[in-house]
Amino acid sequence: MAGGEIVEILDRADGYVETNRAASKGSDLLAGRTVINLFFETSTRTRTSFELAGKRLGADVINMEVAWSSIKKGETLIDTAMTLNAMHPDALVVRAPDSGAVKLLSEKVNCAVVNAGDGSHEHPTQALLDALTIRRRRGRLDGLRVAICGDIAHSRVARSNIHLLNTMGAEVRVIAPPTLLPSGIEKLGVTAFTDMRKGLEGCDIVMMLRLQIERMQGSFVPSIREYFHFYGLDYEKLANAKPDALIMHPGPMNRGVEIDSVVADDIDRSLIRQQVEMGVAVRMAVLAKLTGEERSEAQ
Ligand code: NCD
Repeated sequence: MAGGEIVEILDRADGYVETNRAASKGSDLLAGRTVINLFFETSTRTRTSFELAGKRLGADVINMEVAWSSIKKGETLIDTAMTLNAMHPDALVVRAPDSGAVKLLSEKVNCAVVNAGDGSHEHPTQALLDALTIRRRRGRLDGLRVAICGDIAHSRVARSNIHLLNTMGAEVRVIAPPTLLPSGIEKLGVTAFTDMRKGLEGCDIVMMLRLQIERMQGSFVPSIREYFHFYGLDYEKLANAKPDALIMHPGPMNRGVEIDSVVADDIDRSLIRQQVEMGVAVRMAVLAKLTGEERSEAQ
């Protein structure tokens, strides 16, 4: 995604934040359009917010949760895509446990496809909602120093945020134990740290990540206690960042593993609740851009 396109989505989402706070949230922008949420992985926030986003814009929204195992056993991913395509949806919102699966599916259908997270590869709407959250609080993204901390190796949230934040002129750092830090990560335009205190120095934003146990084959951390001791965000480590540094987490959080509960709930420092709110607005902006009037005008 180019910088101009990111700004366009964020600006549009800003407007939806206001409508979402009003008593009457309805719009008929996407009336008559069909959005299918096709989730091959469990999800709370992402699926619910895409559903709300579609409904608030007046679209018909259908949720499909399919076990990835049944895809492997029988009907292939492509067959599923073709079947749904024959029903003429306007957008498919897809989450899949394999990196690249959403791209593959998008090549087989002729409607818009939104990546709601593919394996450890990308999660673009998460990066957009994170950017909106930061921009609303700090007024800008460029020039900010952002640390992304924890399980970088398995995190699609990290990859999408690195891409977006770099595009928007932020300085990105990643902090992780050596076992969770992919070799060559610097090529993505980040500075890598294995020492949390050093990595947090001068940071404006501290973005924590969940340990993605479900994507780990083997043991990457000696113990949860040790992980928290070295990499869990508590006030003592946070003191190395700027005095007004803000804390983020995409959820779901493991309290006491990657983040101290008190820090996560600190209303002055934590943006975690705002991230969830921005998720609906950003997904409305994405659906509107892909299936709203602008698209039909452009065709
Ligand atoms: C993230 C995801 O699914 O990639 N969560 C989310 O979308 N809110 C991060 C995670 O699962 O840890």
